[in-house]
Amino acid sequence: MAQKWTPQSWRGKPVVQVPTYPDAQALEDAERTLGQFPPLVFAGEARRLKAQLTKVAEGKAFLLQGGDCAESFAEFHPNNIRDTFRVLLQMAVILTYGAASPVVKVGRLAGQFAKPRSSDMETRGDTTLPSYRGDMINGMDFTPESRIPSPQRLIQAYNQSASTLNLLRAFAQGGYADLHKVHQWTLDFVADSPAAARYADLARRLDETLAFMAACGLTAETTPQIREADFFTSHEALHLYYEQAMTRVDSTTGDWYDTSAHMLWIGDRTRQPDGAHVEFLSGIGNPVGIKIGPTITQDELLKLIETLNPENEPGRLTLISRMGADKVESGLPPLIRAVEREGRRVVWSCDPMHANTVSSTTGYKTRSVDRILEEVRGFFAVHRAEGTYAGGVHFEMTGQDVTECVGGAQAITEENLSDRYHTHCDPRLNAKQSLELAFLLAEALKEERAIR
Ligand code: PEP
Ligand code: CO
Repeated sequence: MAQKWTPQSWRGKPVVQVPTYPDAQALEDAERTLGQFPPLVFAGEARRLKAQLTKVAEGKAFLLQGGDCAESFAEFHPNNIRDTFRVLLQMAVILTYGAASPVVKVGRLAGQFAKPRSSDMETRGDTTLPSYRGDMINGMDFTPESRIPSPQRLIQAYNQSASTLNLLRAFAQGGYADLHKVHQWTLDFVADSPAAARYADLARRLDETLAFMAACGLTAETTPQIREADFFTSHEALHLYYEQAMTRVDSTTGDWYDTSAHMLWIGDRTRQPDGAHVEFLSGIGNPVGIKIGPTITQDELLKLIETLNPENEPGRLTLISRMGADKVESGLPPLIRAVEREGRRVVWSCDPMHANTVSSTTGYKTRSVDRILEEVRGFFAVHRAEGTYAGGVHFEMTGQDVTECVGGAQAITEENLSDRYHTHCDPRLNAKQSLELAFLLAEALKEERAIR
């Protein structure tokens, strides 16, 4: 008989990708401290996100989930948070206005600090050290001291998440996200790009629409949807000590919620159906995601769905496929068919980033914008052929003018990568490349909605 779920029941299951701390007492102290800190989100907000994701599962809204691959202590600055947020707002407006679809906005932000690694160790020259696992765990510097996991980092990650979330809430509700400000969201360095010209044109048309609506009596004062954005946070639920410490009973329902973010997902490396990560996420009330790479089988997927969403609640589970541009059209259809055959209600989202990572000739980890857009196109094409709904995207981006992904209208070359390569983990789309992705999505979504 299965053991009853508790916030710590994951400890009885096989666990991967969780660090070993040299000082067990220091880890326990940090867990206790975190357990006494205030929740970062309220369970009612997680339920509101679930309700919005239910609309996505029904084909009536689109999920836009994006942000940093890994947040870092070094890049913690209000301008970085603001710039990422405004590019996400621009992308959301392009989709809402361009495809006339409600957009559910979820950031990979305010908690995205722990990274799964393909290899436990990293070798440079003659030296081998433990891999960097995200600022919540150890340091990126290639020194033995820096790579030792430190529980104190959990506290710092919590504090940074709290301040980041505070600023995001202020932006979302304090007037920054008011639709009358669409022109002001354009970043200076983006202004001369083709995507920015398209965006300026869309913003002009939106202004006209807002003026028309105001004439009808719908203004920012009367209509909160014009004045405020609903913005949610998410991260990979990788560091289970941290997630457990943030898991609390919701006093209004008596259910358990992980209060570290509104939505949590399980990575492609930690989705073992009988493993610790799946066990942990199975008991929390938040909406959850699973990354689905090319190695997953239909049986594994169905087992995961049964464990994570036994009640078949739409909005609870988002399947984030990350097959790779060349595998999406062969790998995804059998999975969709299995889910349809069993009548499982899920959100289908596409992560076009993680299976399109390559090493450049100049030694940088990079991704080609063309391949990213190709996987998105393939994802929409598969859903169209299967008669199912392509419900969202999951991507890594930043508001900064980085040179990490090659190609796109900006035509970043492998030689340019070293100019501004700042990521702590994977290569992210910059602001211009993100707008390009948003325009492609708007077109695909508009076509999709036209045939539904
Ligand atoms: C990620 O989203 O940063 C990630 C590691 O993805 P995946 O688990 O899909 O490889
Ligand atoms: Co990543």
